[in-house]
Amino acid sequence: MKTSPLQVFGWASSILVFVLFLGWGVEAKVVSRASESDPTATSSPLGKKIYEEKCAACHGLTGKGDGVAAVTLSPKPRDLTTGRYKFRSTESGSIPTDDDIIRTIREGLHGTSMPAWKSFIDRDSLKALVAYVKSLSPRFSTETPKGVMVGLVVPISPATIAAGKRVYEKLQCGVCHGSDGEGGGATTTEFFDDWGQRIVATNLTEPWTFRGGSNVRDIYLRFRTGIDGTPMPSYKGTATNVEMWNLAQYVASMARKPVWSMNEQEVRAHYAKLEAQAIADPIARGRYLVSSLGCIDCHTPTKAGGALTSDLLLAGGQRWDIPPFGTLYTANLTPDVESGIGSKSDDQLVQAIRRGVRSDGTRMLPFPMPWPALAQLSERDVKAIIAYLRSLPPVKNKIPDRETPNIFSYLWGKFRLLILKEQMPAYIHYGNAGSSGAISAHLLSTIERKEGVQ
Ligand code: HEC
Ligand code: HEC
Ligand code: HEC
Repeated sequence: MKTSPLQVFGWASSILVFVLFLGWGVEAKVVSRASESDPTATSSPLGKKIYEEKCAACHGLTGKGDGVAAVTLSPKPRDLTTGRYKFRSTESGSIPTDDDIIRTIREGLHGTSMPAWKSFIDRDSLKALVAYVKSLSPRFSTETPKGVMVGLVVPISPATIAAGKRVYEKLQCGVCHGSDGEGGGATTTEFFDDWGQRIVATNLTEPWTFRGGSNVRDIYLRFRTGIDGTPMPSYKGTATNVEMWNLAQYVASMARKPVWSMNEQEVRAHYAKLEAQAIADPIARGRYLVSSLGCIDCHTPTKAGGALTSDLLLAGGQRWDIPPFGTLYTANLTPDVESGIGSKSDDQLVQAIRRGVRSDGTRMLPFPMPWPALAQLSERDVKAIIAYLRSLPPVKNKIPDRETPNIFSYLWGKFRLLILKEQMPAYIHYGNAGSSGAISAHLLSTIERKEGVQ
């Protein structure tokens, strides 16, 4: 019989397991622990290899979500050591099933940096990878997933959709998603998840953005099991099985036509509607721009690990060391008069955002404040951003002045950078450098960390 590549792989992995047992005690422990709970874990060396090649850059070597790339990502990669998963077919608080994890890996998570791996990892490798991912959290060796009973499927009809609309009202999904599913009339649509990431209640009329899948069953599972670690609750026991299917069918029916299937007239009407909304409600437009242009990620101090400090939202105080240019602190963008933008004119803010001119008339570097990219914003959009910032509650957080090196250290730094071609690591600090806190740790170096894996 011909030897298949899989068999060769089997031998190779057995040898590897043997070497691991002889050599590294720690590695051997991981392999043996995983194999007690899961028969597929014998292929863990393969899983480990794929994990280290494809996942560790974001999720970190030990799965803590602290890989080299994590610094710049929002939302942050999941900490896989806690066994807490957002997208499950299991009860709230339970670990997910293998199929849930496979689904996330194959399909990716829309609107985040988590890629869809289906064309890059074949079925067998995926099994080994899942076994390895599970071995990163001790919960998988002590707990079993508590699957939900998806009751009898109700056939879809105009009547069931109409009934679903009543369930949507009864369960008050509109408090967060809006009565129209697009946030209209919602109390608030913006939240933090338990990892300190800023999240928005999903626009239910755009099912292609659902990260847990967009068919009726996926939607049923989402509100039935909840999204752990977020305000999206589990609706277990709040309605009958038939009502839940009706609701899922109604949510699926809210889907609007995506732009890529519209004809010319529809595209025009769609953008005209968006434009009318932006004009009618500049603060909402500004909120959307501020959360999508990354202002929050830089202008909010973070805790160790990168979670945003929610009570200091946009209050500035992140410290950036960029040799040889000096140390910069992000500005307090809340309307506090002494420490924020309260005393600045609209014109000063427009100049800062689009031209990189500070209020004192001096020029910023072209980074980290991304004004060269923001230069393309329309007048109306910059004004909307400013209107939104002025609508925030003022937070007192006095930001230190930037520190620039003297001319000799600056020139010496430039010489090291350009002539000696030395790497000069830049640092982003955790903690708040403003008056209401102190820097807790001095840890993050994007450049130094990158060197570590090269
Ligand atoms: C470019 C960065 C990146 C890479 C590479 C990456 N991920 Fe992720 N991953 C993320 C982010 C970001 C999230 C969290 C998204 C969120 O909070 O909604 C995530 C979430 C997850 C989750 C959690 C899903 C849940 O239900 O909570 C799993 C499991 C996962 N990733 C597995 C993997 C595996 C396995 C690989 C390698 C094949 C991988 N990821 C590679 C960025 C990445
Ligand atoms: C307290 C606020 C809140 C309520 C009430 C709420 N949701 Fe959500 N919902 C959220 C948030 C926040 C998210 C996004 C979570 C995230 O980004 O991780 C979400 C996400 C979703 C998603 C998309 C999940 C995906 O796959 O990406 C669906 C579908 C959904 N909700 C349906 C519902 C339905 C149906 C109800 C009523 C039964 C409901 N929600 C009630 C806050 C809420
Ligand atoms: C990658 C990080 C980053 C992002 C993203 C970012 N900023 Fe900044 N911003 C900074 C830093 C750093 C400074 C201080 C720069 C300096 O003084 O040289 C700053 C300064 C400012 C200032 C103050 C100028 C002054 O008068 O001193 C304003 C206003 C501002 N940013 C607004 C914004 C807005 C609005 C957004 C989103 C559209 C944004 N920033 C996105 C890092 C960032």
